[in-house]
Amino acid sequence: MENALLPSIILTILLNLRPAESPDPACRNTCGSLAVKYPFGTGSGCGSPRFHPYVTCVHVEDHDDLVLATHTGSYPVTSISYTGSTLIISPPNMSTCTSMKPSPNLGLDWSGPFELGSSTFVLLHCEPPTASLTINDSSICDLSSSNLCASVYACPAVLNLGLPLFSPTNTCCVYSPANFDSKGELDLQALKCGGYAPVMSLGDDPTDPTGWEYGVELKYTQGALDSNHMDTKCPTCENSGGVCGYEPASLAFVCVCAGGYNTTTDCHPYNQVQGIMWSSASFPSRKDRWRNLGYSGLVWLAAACSMNQCLRRFFFQVEMNS
Ligand SMILES: *[C@@H]1O[C@H](CO)[C@@H](O)[C@H](O)[C@H]1NC(C)=O
Ligand SMILES: *[C@@H]1O[C@H](CO)[C@@H](O)[C@H](O)[C@H]1NC(C)=O
Ligand SMILES: *[C@@H]1O[C@H](CO)[C@@H](O)[C@H](O)[C@H]1NC(C)=O
Repeated sequence: MENALLPSIILTILLNLRPAESPDPACRNTCGSLAVKYPFGTGSGCGSPRFHPYVTCVHVEDHDDLVLATHTGSYPVTSISYTGSTLIISPPNMSTCTSMKPSPNLGLDWSGPFELGSSTFVLLHCEPPTASLTINDSSICDLSSSNLCASVYACPAVLNLGLPLFSPTNTCCVYSPANFDSKGELDLQALKCGGYAPVMSLGDDPTDPTGWEYGVELKYTQGALDSNHMDTKCPTCENSGGVCGYEPASLAFVCVCAGGYNTTTDCHPYNQVQGIMWSSASFPSRKDRWRNLGYSGLVWLAAACSMNQCLRRFFFQVEMNS
């Protein structure tokens, strides 16, 4: 009786010894509330290498933010459209109807994969008259949209810019650039403007700036320039529950699977017997590799040893070896 129970007791103990928690995956598919997919990544080795130095997931106080870093600052990404290849950033110093503040220049790096989307910038508190604001000798303000200026200047927050409510609109300029200047910046200093409200949509009522959608829309170029066939391999990897990444040194494609396993294709074998299966995949660390190998070996041994004798021989040998 006792002897017959022993193997199953040992099997039970071994099953409970199984590493209960997988190590944190090197690449995650969310950051805060945002779904993060190729070409974006949450850190080095994740997503596309062309996006990595610019976009990362950072831990701020009690939450995670996907952040776009450029030569002028760091800007939280508030949404991504993977089908439209656009993203929206909310510069901390931008103005809206409810919050206005002086802003430093806003810039994008020419070397990065991002360019300006279709946001309109309402430049605030500029040196009057804005009708003569020019870049390269062409005036930039859309005078036919000055009604937007009147609406914004009715927001009580203009007081924070040092302007009176309903101030004349000749200090305001509606500017819809196709691109930033040669430095890649919305150069408020050169334009002599205090702040900007980036407007993506006027909502249902164009005269009500509390209902407008604020943010800077950017377009990104797809990973077509990635030299390591990311674009063709990545969908297979993502469909198997993996996260696309790359080997930081060689930039070779890797599919990052749950539990710390990387493959060159997808995660299918690892979803089923995660932690025990191993093949050509790389393992989280040397220590984990031996733990997993040793563990699976012991499970098979215990299962095979249905008789007390077998176990006795096994433990005898362990004793001899140690
Ligand atoms: C898997 O790939 C990710 C991204 O390149 C890397 O950070 C991580 O160290 C890799 N893990 C292993 C075990 O090779
Ligand atoms: C922009 O915002 C940051 C953080 O809110 C602040 O520290 C910085 O002083 C602001 N810059 C300007 C020019 O207002
Ligand atoms: C202004 O002109 C310079 C020189 O021709 C050019 O490099 C720059 O891109 C132009 N700036 C804009 C915003 O068009």
